[in-house]
Amino acid sequence: MDLHDYKKVAENYDLYVDIVCPESSALNGEACIDFYSNLAKEYGDKGILDIGCGTGCIMIPLLENGYKITGIDISQEMLNVLRKKLANKNLKTDLICSDMGEFNTYKEYSLAIMPRSAFFHIIDRKHQKKALKNISKHLCKGGILSLNTVIPDYKFITNQQADGKYLRFEYINADGKKEKVYNEFQYNYETQVNSGKWTFEEYDENDSIVKINECLISIKFSQKSEIENLFELCGFEVINIYGGYDNREPTYPGNLIWVARKI
Ligand SMILES: C[S@@+](CC[C@H](N)C(=O)[O-])C[C@H]1O[C@@H](n2cnc3c(N)ncnc32)[C@H](O)[C@@H]1O
Repeated sequence: MDLHDYKKVAENYDLYVDIVCPESSALNGEACIDFYSNLAKEYGDKGILDIGCGTGCIMIPLLENGYKITGIDISQEMLNVLRKKLANKNLKTDLICSDMGEFNTYKEYSLAIMPRSAFFHIIDRKHQKKALKNISKHLCKGGILSLNTVIPDYKFITNQQADGKYLRFEYINADGKKEKVYNEFQYNYETQVNSGKWTFEEYDENDSIVKINECLISIKFSQKSEIENLFELCGFEVINIYGGYDNREPTYPGNLIWVARKI
């Protein structure tokens, strides 16, 4: 899944995220929720940090199962959507609006999860290290961290750049209006950062465009050995790497779901 800043689209996130990324569907599918429920069951007894919790698609089912969770997200808009959802369900939890490299809860947890890709947003090595060290500070010894990364498919990148702006998908937004969503990207082979924008075009009943939202985006692709080195540098040992939320073996290039233990 690629990501953008969520300021203008937080209210619609739940409505399009599963269309963009059906393989990690949390609203309509079971595998993603099951994956984090299993981690919670195995490692979440002393509390869970949900980093990049967004609108709480993963957090809410875990809270409903009685886990104690603190949510961290850099986007106040995404947290506001989550706050409304929690109030509607009469659920309570601590939410902190902060960068994952900066927050401090003054507590230790036995599990930290970063469901569905918040780590892609961290596009430079210094920030990646800061984030992992800060998360480590909040984990008890032997605590577990799970995050996702992507190994780039250069054929896809080349085709994407050749296509320029392309229609990625259509959906119905929170106001019941059709939106067409376009993507446009440039890949930097030196930094391994894919930068571009998502354009959300909203249509009225006469099929005329009534609103356009543009969201800039930069996401970091990483080679497997870079993430292995990063974990080692920040005091983690990798205990599992999966290629999907159904625990399948990784394939390369592809998405990797890492599970690492604080040493
Ligand atoms: C793809 S969304 C995932 C949201 C949620 N975990 C889910 O599974 O639906 C990524 C989230 O990461 C948050 N995020 C991005 N960069 C962040 C940072 N540096 N620190 C904390 N949160 C961040 C975004 O605001 C967004 O809510």
